[in-house]
Amino acid sequence: MAKLLPVDVFDLIIFGGTGDLAMRKLLPALYHRDRDGQFTGDSRIIAVGRGALSKKAYLAEVKEALQKNLADDDFDAEFWRSFSERIKYVKADAMSHNEWGSLKKTLAGKEERIRVIYLATAPSLFGPIAKGLATNRLITANSRIVLEKPLGRDLESASEINNQVGECFAENQIYRIDHYLGKETVQNLLALRFANSLFEPLWRRGTVDHVQITVAEELGVGGRIEFYDRVGALRDMVQNHLLQLVCLTAMEAPSSLHHDAVRDEKIKVLRALRPIDADAVRDHTVRGQYAAGAIKGETAAGYLEELGGADSSTETFVALKIEIDNWRWSNVPFYLRTGKRLKGKHSEIVVEFQDVPHSIFPQQDFAVMPNRLTIRLQPDEGVKLTLMAKEPGPGGFDLRPVSLDLSFEETFGIRYPDSYERLLMEVLRGNPALFMRRDEVDAAWQWIDGIISGWEHSRQKVESYVAGSWGPTASSVLLDRDNRAWYPDT
Ligand code: BG6
Repeated sequence: MAKLLPVDVFDLIIFGGTGDLAMRKLLPALYHRDRDGQFTGDSRIIAVGRGALSKKAYLAEVKEALQKNLADDDFDAEFWRSFSERIKYVKADAMSHNEWGSLKKTLAGKEERIRVIYLATAPSLFGPIAKGLATNRLITANSRIVLEKPLGRDLESASEINNQVGECFAENQIYRIDHYLGKETVQNLLALRFANSLFEPLWRRGTVDHVQITVAEELGVGGRIEFYDRVGALRDMVQNHLLQLVCLTAMEAPSSLHHDAVRDEKIKVLRALRPIDADAVRDHTVRGQYAAGAIKGETAAGYLEELGGADSSTETFVALKIEIDNWRWSNVPFYLRTGKRLKGKHSEIVVEFQDVPHSIFPQQDFAVMPNRLTIRLQPDEGVKLTLMAKEPGPGGFDLRPVSLDLSFEETFGIRYPDSYERLLMEVLRGNPALFMRRDEVDAAWQWIDGIISGWEHSRQKVESYVAGSWGPTASSVLLDRDNRAWYPDT
């Protein structure tokens, strides 16, 4: 396992401390990092909420959440006692800045330590909270602010939030989270590409035929439906997670791992994305919405039923064909798809190489198939290289695709840390490499805004798909038109 370096004493203040993200992700992540010995001295976790809660009542909520969200044998009653001593609860309303007395009191005298303010709230509160911190003089030289997604719903609203927060914090104090960048396998993409010389000469037009990126979920929108209905899959998943995967797959080698070196290369990819406008949306995009079906034998309701019978054209599935206008990727399409209530939870990047220029093998059952490199992000993280091999036997010369298949979990034999564990430690250490710079967010929104306005102008309809399938038929047609198919090819 990689070395676990302790971090200096800190105060981590979580606005939205009673919310779903804090309970499901942040506190379990902090629990693990503390248990592995990375927290020092009297570092504190200060949860901020609107309600008046006693410390005892808050701790009871946290304990229940940890018992529910940690893996079976990870909750340790003895360790909980010392972890819970770090936790405080403070009442403060994001909008009433003159009532932040208890927060001020809790932080008084601790100005020297690292202060991280995590905004796990609705984005409409990011500006007001930043302002409240400034008016109450709670922003120290050692302060950093973490912004959860979604950062706005278009370029205009994202700019407004960034401006408001930017009035109180310098850009190098702002950490915009995309939790995909904290996933081990996403970081492994950097290792795969830049710690091995094997792939680089092949990683381009001329050898790569196309790239597929799939982020498929079995879950529906569940309890978040009201929020989700205003957002949809393009804004919820593509604007951030999928575009980040495109950037890491397509970018040039940065000169170092320095945060700006990596982010400078990513932004060049975003700026090279060919706009998809009203004329192009029909041939380059598919929108889908799940209807009732079944997943792994269990019936699943349709999106509209979950909405309570209301009408909605919000997409729960998107497929895109995108082009990157630069020398490396000219004429190499990247196909992206993401959706809810699909056949399985399955996220991967497939790089398909070109066919052999001429086959010397006789016609047979299996044609010579192109090589492909599959980077599995989840589940069963790993890398698979598919090659053609001769089937053993004395007669004939039959070929078959076979795989060199590497499972990271089997190879390294450790629990894969949740992405929030990594990201929280990076903020505490003051390393913004895995966070999005403002210009990246702006460039991603600008490109996404083009698709949204294209959809509006062309009135592109939302295709229905059965829950438990791989999405609408139009998604297969998108590749079929180019004589290609999704892996798995349904
Ligand atoms: C979130 C989206 O950012 O990512 C959710 O808002 C989605 O809708 C989730 O379910 C997927 O994350 P993961 O880590 O489970 O792939």
